[in-house]
Formats: sequence, C-alpha cells, structure tokens
Amino acid sequence: MNLSVSGLSATRSGRTILHPTSLDIAQCEYIALVGASGSGKSTLGHVLIDNLRSRGLRVAHVPQCPEEALDPLRSMRFHWHETERALGFDPGSTDKKTLFTALKIQDGDLQKRPWAWSRGMQQRFVIAMALISAPDLIVLDEPTSALDPIIAAATMDLLGQYRKGHDTAMILITHDLGLAARHASTLIVMHNGRIVEKASTVEVLKHPQTDAAKSLVAHRIWAAMPC
Ligand SMILES: Nc1ncnc2c1ncn2[C@@H]1O[C@H](COP(=O)(O)OP(=O)(O)OP(=O)(O)O)[C@@H](O)[C@H]1O
Ligand SMILES: [Mg+2]
Repeated sequence: MNLSVSGLSATRSGRTILHPTSLDIAQCEYIALVGASGSGKSTLGHVLIDNLRSRGLRVAHVPQCPEEALDPLRSMRFHWHETERALGFDPGSTDKKTLFTALKIQDGDLQKRPWAWSRGMQQRFVIAMALISAPDLIVLDEPTSALDPIIAAATMDLLGQYRKGHDTAMILITHDLGLAARHASTLIVMHNGRIVEKASTVEVLKHPQTDAAKSLVAHRIWAAMPC
C-alpha cells in the first residue's frame, strides 16, 4: 500500500521543530532518514506514526534501545503475549516461529527476563514484536546504535531478508550512512526541521545537492566498509 502524508508539523515550547512536511512512501520502499543531531528526524518519525495510525494504518515503531520496549522485571514470553493482546491477537496464536527464525532468536529462552539475552538478541526480539501484525510501515529510530557494528549490520540484513516476502515499507532513522547505504533505496536528509533532500541513495551519496547532505557525505566514516 502506498502511504501519503502532508502538512506534518510540530511545535515545542513555542519553537517550530518540524516545518510543514509532506511524504510519499511506496509499498515496500526502504527509506533511510538521515541528518545531524537535532535536525528533527525523531520528531518526523513520531508525527508520521501518529498521523498514519490515526487513519487506521498499521505502523510499528522500534526504539533506539531495547530497554525502552522491554520491562526488566518481566519475562520475554510475557512481552510477547502482551504485544499479541495489544494487537488484538490471542496470546500464543501468532506465527512466532517464523519471525524468531528469520531474526535468529529461535534459541532464546522465553522464560528469561531481557537481561538474560544479549542486547543484539533483545533488539531483534523487539523488531520481531514490531512485525507481529505485518505492519504497512515499520519505523526504526536508530535501532542499532547500541549494538556493535557487526551485529548492527547483521540485524538489518536479517530484517531486509524478512521484508522480501512482505509488503512492509520501512523508515530507518540513523546517523550511520554506511547502514543507510547498505539496503535503503531512498535517502531523506533533514536539516533544521525540514526535509532538504530526497533522492535515491546512490544519487545522494554520489551527488549531494545541499550543504547538509554534502556535510554528511563528507564526514562519513564508512569508506572502508564493504557496503
Ligand atoms: N519535547 C521537546 N521540547 C522542546 N524541544 C524539543 C522537544 N523534542 C525535541 N525538541 C527539539 O527539537 C529538535 C529536533 O529534535 P529531534 O529529537 O527530532 O532530533 P533528531 O534529529 O532526532 O536528533 P538526534 O539525532 O539527536 O536523535 C531538537 O532541537 C530538539 O532539541
Ligand atoms: Mg532522534
């Protein structure tokens, strides 16, 4: 399903932190949303999610750290069942096996609490929870910044493989141009609460048009990465 929004904006403490913004997201499109810290990426992500959900669309959100999604006092099974209930499914009725296998957490002990799982496994579990309802769009806000680069890349690769058989579009919010360039077909660059550039990933990386994009490309730290 193609998703289209317009007039998204946000004001905090009398300051406009997101200027009126429109966005079209094609079915299955993989967009990386990049920009300097404070440019408004997370704000756009939140406002976009609220807008689409208010229209009845299924939109999942994966936060930066698994701690934001997982209660240290509850078992992994509890989290899974709570998420199923919240999404309107009977606990235990969804296809956990396929998601766990796709995200390589099938050996995780669901009786354990989050801290008994590695952070990489925890974040892949959170991503699996986000995929339970086969969302139209999944928004991941720096989902791998707390992981080492190899686990981060592997996690995004697993998610990429899973998405191949599904219609879920994806927005990855990241500072990491290497991760963005790895699979995203479209790059959106934000600066001071505005989208200043949107083009194919290859185009932005090869021919950045704006100072914000030029600066990001010039300061990339991934030149040696096999992306
Ligand atoms: N609740 C709030 N009250 C006041 N200002 C806010 C609030 N939330 C965000 N801001 C400001 O809005 C701007 C955009 O914030 P946002 O978190 O969207 O940026 P970001 O691009 O996601 O940054 P980062 O890369 O550091 O996560 C920043 O200047 C931030 O300080
Ligand atoms: Mg942010």
